[in-house]
Amino acid sequence: MLETVQVLLKEMGVFSPKSKKEVEEFRLRYLGKNGKINELFDTFKNVPNESKKEFGQAINTLKQNAQKKVEAFKGRFEAPKSSEKIDSTRPVNLNSLGSRHPISLIRNEIVSAFSRVGFSVSEGPEIEDDWHNFSALNLPEEHPARDMQDTFFIQSNPNILLRTHTSSVQVRYMNDNKPPIRTLSPGRVYRNEAISARAHCIFHQVEGLYIDENVSFADLKQCLLYFAKEMFGDKTKIRLRPSYFPFTEPSAEVDVSCNICNSKGCNVCKNTGYLEILGCGMVDPNVLENCGIDSKKYTGFAFGMGIERIAMLKYGVKDLRLFFENDVRFLKQFDKSV
Ligand code: DAH
Repeated sequence: MLETVQVLLKEMGVFSPKSKKEVEEFRLRYLGKNGKINELFDTFKNVPNESKKEFGQAINTLKQNAQKKVEAFKGRFEAPKSSEKIDSTRPVNLNSLGSRHPISLIRNEIVSAFSRVGFSVSEGPEIEDDWHNFSALNLPEEHPARDMQDTFFIQSNPNILLRTHTSSVQVRYMNDNKPPIRTLSPGRVYRNEAISARAHCIFHQVEGLYIDENVSFADLKQCLLYFAKEMFGDKTKIRLRPSYFPFTEPSAEVDVSCNICNSKGCNVCKNTGYLEILGCGMVDPNVLENCGIDSKKYTGFAFGMGIERIAMLKYGVKDLRLFFENDVRFLKQFDKSV
């Protein structure tokens, strides 16, 4: 008899109705007054006492299975009841809210780290003129370092361009404000580069500027060490390598210790134990003078970093293009509740 139950269960499993009528036939066949299940219940009295429990359970399972199937199949062929029609006045489903973009999350983290030590936020235009993007920053026309940043010019006016870095905001800020200055300028920048896993023609930077009396390279170093620890953890170390930028003298590139391998060497840090995160230096006196600041009285430092670069390191993202494709499956992984 248990075999009969098994056979019926199997039969039900493959049943796939094509109409409401077939569902009703199914119901009658199994659950009807003269249906299979009642037939089984009728034979129950002939079952030996020791098997009654097992057999009873098997029929009950069979019955529940049949009832569930009928319910499920019925819904498939029934028109929605009037109360189930779409009600456009109902509130939206809050669970499907969007999430913050990873680039915004990192920008906010950077801004918040520096605002805790007194930096304010400033912004400038993305469409810039030659003076603010290049000349005032000690990059006069024909300066070879202009080639370091492939520029998008506005065709009808070569004096107007899409800013290649947020350093242009330094110039604007110094023109409009007197020292002491402590400002951070996040924003979008543009370069005429082929798009790849490591480069894009649009990306984001954060520029920092600190001007006061007696500001030294030691202040710069300490400020960046503070930032690195805030961003990558308390054990993070930094390393400064001499470099060249026309707007700073001396200039340096800053690396942070690789927190993936604890500086032991891995494929992310290419076995160097360190990862490059930004460029910096002491603001060149020419730049201060170009912006109306007395370079005999004041000194200062500046730094600039790519937000995508920091986001790639923090989140372990290997392809920069992902930040621009806006695939929600990628984006929602960074959600920190909006
Ligand atoms: N503007 C530089 C770039 O886009 C980054 C930079 C380097 C900014 C050194 C600075 C700095 O302020 O001091 O590559």
